[in-house]
Amino acid sequence: MSTIKIALLGFGTVGQGVYQTVHSHQEELSAVLGKKVEIAAILVKNHQKDRDINEGILVTTDFREILQLSELDIVIEAIVGKEPAFSYLKEMIKRGSHVITANKEMFAHHGGELKILAEKHGVSIGFEATVAGGIPVIQTITQLLNINRVTKLEGILNGTSNFILTEMREKNETFQAALKSAQQKGFAEADPTNDIQGFDAFYKLMILSELTFGRQPDWDSAWREGISSITREQVLEAKELGLRFKLIATVEKSGESIIASVRPALVSPSHPLYAVEGVENAVSIYADIVGKINLQGPGAGMLPTASAMIEDLIHAVKPRIIERSFRLENDVKEVFQQKKTKQTWLMIQKEALEISRDNTVLVSKIDSSKGLYIINADERTVKSFSERNGRANFFQILGEYHLKEQETPSLAFFN
Ligand SMILES: NC(=O)c1ccc[n+]([C@@H]2O[C@H](COP(=O)([O-])OP(=O)(O)OC[C@H]3O[C@@H](n4cnc5c(N)ncnc54)[C@H](OP(=O)(O)O)[C@@H]3O)[C@@H](O)[C@H]2O)c1
Repeated sequence: MSTIKIALLGFGTVGQGVYQTVHSHQEELSAVLGKKVEIAAILVKNHQKDRDINEGILVTTDFREILQLSELDIVIEAIVGKEPAFSYLKEMIKRGSHVITANKEMFAHHGGELKILAEKHGVSIGFEATVAGGIPVIQTITQLLNINRVTKLEGILNGTSNFILTEMREKNETFQAALKSAQQKGFAEADPTNDIQGFDAFYKLMILSELTFGRQPDWDSAWREGISSITREQVLEAKELGLRFKLIATVEKSGESIIASVRPALVSPSHPLYAVEGVENAVSIYADIVGKINLQGPGAGMLPTASAMIEDLIHAVKPRIIERSFRLENDVKEVFQQKKTKQTWLMIQKEALEISRDNTVLVSKIDSSKGLYIINADERTVKSFSERNGRANFFQILGEYHLKEQETPSLAFFN
């Protein structure tokens, strides 16, 4: 039986997961591929660390040693940051190796360039592990929804933020206490900025946008907001209304624009993302023929991420390449109208409302002593009010929300 030789770039959480899986699932790999899979080399940064690696495998800190290997079919990259990962993958593609990456930051910035280079050199590029860990969202969109026109993706793409929000609600904790608990459990880095400020979810969303719509939106025009300013009081007030805070990533096409946002929203029990708790991730795919598909599962971790990379390995060796067409003309009007449609928001405004008569909006007071109002307005109106009145917080409510009897609707005016 012939052998597929692979190199691992990085031997941290993800690299070790791939290493273990190649060994634990050798029988399945051989059965599917008709070939053995062998790890030939591993690139690390620090040669001094103790590692449990079989003898005979080249372990090096020098990338040139990997580049010079005479036989190398696939490179699996799981290092951190844009560089040197991007440069390494370019080199490996040029030498004719298939590449598979888990590195979302690098791929959000350089994925387009790598895809073009891979096509030019006749190799494949796998990136399932860059989005939502073990959930096969990339394969679902590229391999299983070939004729459907995908119009919108919406999901929870960052397990750390979701864990923190879940802890705050369930254990009545402050943001800082929940963050500390996430760090102690290994769900958050010592520097949690990428996760709690929404960058990690944003990188994943950009990868999904490019995959689904053929391009990314202008990064500066997209709404990216993290969860660090959400207070325990806000979480508990939302809980009393039967709502849960979630960091929601959304991308959809509107006219010639791609509209993307990562921001905290409130989710009601009727919405599929309501039940996504702790470090879990989920993605809802809206497509014109099938309707809505919900995928949910582990968004990170050693084995879930290795699972995504090993499945990419199968596709690299036994490709079923289908190009998405990105034809969305017929959907455009419908999506555009959706954006103009009024949505339901919870406004938390502890001080007196400043009202002008330029625009009418139905405001239902839930409890004005607590400064809670339900607003029915389009996004533009809410944004404009929010920009003028920094003290008010707005959170869109996803899913059905019915006013309770004591929540008396009244008409107010603001712009
Ligand atoms: N952890 C997850 O659950 C998860 C899930 C999905 C995607 N990812 C992505 O996967 C990648 C790896 O994550 P991880 O959690 O496995 O990270 P990690 O545990 O910190 O491991 C990183 C590995 O990369 C090596 N490395 C770092 N810089 C290097 C360089 N310049 N040259 C060579 N090797 C270098 C490190 O070497 P040393 O061992 O010598 O320090 C280490 O083995 C990241 O891009 C991450 O965003 C992670």
